[in-house]
Amino acid sequence: MKEQPLLFALPKGRLMEKSRDLLGSMGIDFSFDNRKLVADDKSGNYRFFLVKNSDLPTYVNHGIAGLGVCGSDVIYESGKDFYKLHTFSYGSTKMCLAGLKGSHNFGNDAALKISTKFTRFTRDYYHRHNTPVEVIKLNGSVELGPVLGLSPYIVDLVETGNTLRANNLEIIKELEDIRVHLIVNPAYYKLNYKRINKFVDDIKTGEAKWNLERRK
Ligand code: PRP
Repeated sequence: MKEQPLLFALPKGRLMEKSRDLLGSMGIDFSFDNRKLVADDKSGNYRFFLVKNSDLPTYVNHGIAGLGVCGSDVIYESGKDFYKLHTFSYGSTKMCLAGLKGSHNFGNDAALKISTKFTRFTRDYYHRHNTPVEVIKLNGSVELGPVLGLSPYIVDLVETGNTLRANNLEIIKELEDIRVHLIVNPAYYKLNYKRINKFVDDIKTGEAKWNLERRK
């Protein structure tokens, strides 16, 4: 009897494209055509769910998806612990404090006023560093905070730095390295550990080959 497909959550956006490319190079082909959010690969061994980045830990935590591709930033904000079976070579970014170019002067601030999507990280980071903060939650385009005067500072992910540069902002401090992990629901792992371990071995080999190919 054919086994049920492995259930896999992928985050919308940049990480999905890279993940699909890597999986495709391993012969796991699927597409989310016509705005479909669920797709099986051609072999029928994998079923993929296309979810909003910040919702991914919820789907894996509830066991709706057994596996997921997720950044350490999003995992931290979820407040949940997951087994991390693999760290991907792509998607690395830095969590940074940034502000308008040349304008930062902490001495005058009673508390750092910071706009961010990453409220848990920001509060915890500055709490650990005994620095008072006032955190304003935004859901995207965080760089507008200092530009429009909502707050002098932002805590956000910086990858190429293009968004900061384009908006006359600069990094004040790099706070943490962010990596992308393959996460798994613990109960799902127990039930499917042989297949999942084989899949993780295949991902490690496949990703090394994929990186070599891309460098050619
Ligand atoms: C992320 C992040 C920055 C940008 C950084 O935003 O929040 O805005 O990418 O990338 P860069 O350093 O390469 O310019 P995302 O594209 O996820 O969109 P969002 O602002 O709507 O969250």
